[in-house]
Amino acid sequence: MSKIIGVIGAGTMGSGIAQVAAQCGHSVYLMDANVEQLERAKNGVSKSLEKLVEKGKFTVDQKSSIESNIHYVAQLEGLSTCHLIIEAIVEKMEVKHSVFSSLEKIVSADCILASNTSSLSIASIGSSLTKADRVIGIHFFNPATIMPLVEIIPAVQTSEATINDAVSLIQSWGKTVVLCKDTPGFIVNRVARPFYGEALRIYEEGLADFATIDWAMTHFGGFKMGPFTLMDYIGNDVNYAVTESVFQAFYYDPRFKPSFTQKRHSEAGFYGRKTGRGFYQYAEGTETSEPTKDEIIGKIIFERVLVMLINEAVDAVFMQVASVKDVDLAMTKGVNYPKGLLAWADELGLDWVLDKLNELFDEYGEDRYRPNALLKRMVKKGDKFYS
Ligand SMILES: NC(=O)c1ccc[n+]([C@@H]2O[C@H](COP(=O)([O-])OP(=O)(O)OC[C@H]3O[C@@H](n4cnc5c(N)ncnc54)[C@H](O)[C@@H]3O)[C@@H](O)[C@H]2O)c1
Repeated sequence: MSKIIGVIGAGTMGSGIAQVAAQCGHSVYLMDANVEQLERAKNGVSKSLEKLVEKGKFTVDQKSSIESNIHYVAQLEGLSTCHLIIEAIVEKMEVKHSVFSSLEKIVSADCILASNTSSLSIASIGSSLTKADRVIGIHFFNPATIMPLVEIIPAVQTSEATINDAVSLIQSWGKTVVLCKDTPGFIVNRVARPFYGEALRIYEEGLADFATIDWAMTHFGGFKMGPFTLMDYIGNDVNYAVTESVFQAFYYDPRFKPSFTQKRHSEAGFYGRKTGRGFYQYAEGTETSEPTKDEIIGKIIFERVLVMLINEAVDAVFMQVASVKDVDLAMTKGVNYPKGLLAWADELGLDWVLDKLNELFDEYGEDRYRPNALLKRMVKKGDKFYS
């Protein structure tokens, strides 16, 4: 019998996750405290499936059968028969604690209780449970119906059985699963920080403008979007908040220091596309910014951001956050990087990466540029990430 799935929170993420599970034939109970939101989610799922029917992915009959798999409920009690529940409500620890402890009184003893949190500790969420070995992080990317990556995050309390069940279930949904330690930002939101942070720093130093930095990253690096275009998509308010939370969570490590430029843009309400203005202007009739396509400057920018990203990827491996393979998978499948950062490092030569980082570290004397110890060790031994 197919497992019964519960999803709490019928917002952006919850409705997408519910749709993914329903498409895989599960009976899904989607709960939200706000009844109007349930109605919106129902319409959203229907529209999204309609598009998939137009694309030929599903027939009209399959669409209705998927829709009938989802039951919309306004009370936690509606989730009592579920085998696995994924919480996707507001990102506030005290609210999550209260929901998880109420949930435990309703579900069976072996129901897995997962959180889709982007930034909170799974161990802390689990502390609200009596039987905490069933807590786990199951972190989808937006939009959950399209993005293939799911980070699975066991907490210190999580049992092996919970990990194995969660991994095999999410893999059966056709998702690419990576396992990662319960540390701030997990893999993607940690390793990706320099893509934004170093680009902002380069701008603040006056080396180039937004459009030129974006051009450097897309032209030389093959990234689908430059950092400023991407931050405008994500929203400067959201992206700044993630950066600040990762910075605090890492005990103010200068590697993760947020930028005044982004803070000011956020404070001014220049959030990006959603407000019509971010680093760029989106209102009709406004001129698009043109890059200065200076190949020498462009290459300097690209290489500086790339080695900082690689240094962060190496640190995630060094600190056992995830395996080499999973760090690379996370960045290619979660944020569409053109190559895995560690495979890229091998290709460029680890000694070349270390030299670039050492140049930055020598010039600036700032801790943010310190090359990772694992990178230094590997260069000394002549090792590579992939043999
Ligand atoms: N938006 C993203 O890109 C993204 C990506 C990955 C993970 N996340 C995480 O997913 C979670 C949800 O994010 P979102 O963007 O979908 O939020 P959202 O605001 O779109 O949806 C949250 C929903 O939860 C409901 N809700 C709030 N408190 C509730 C409660 N006590 N009981 C039941 N329902 C409640 C709200 O009514 C709302 O519909 C957060 O933990 C967030 O960090 C978000």
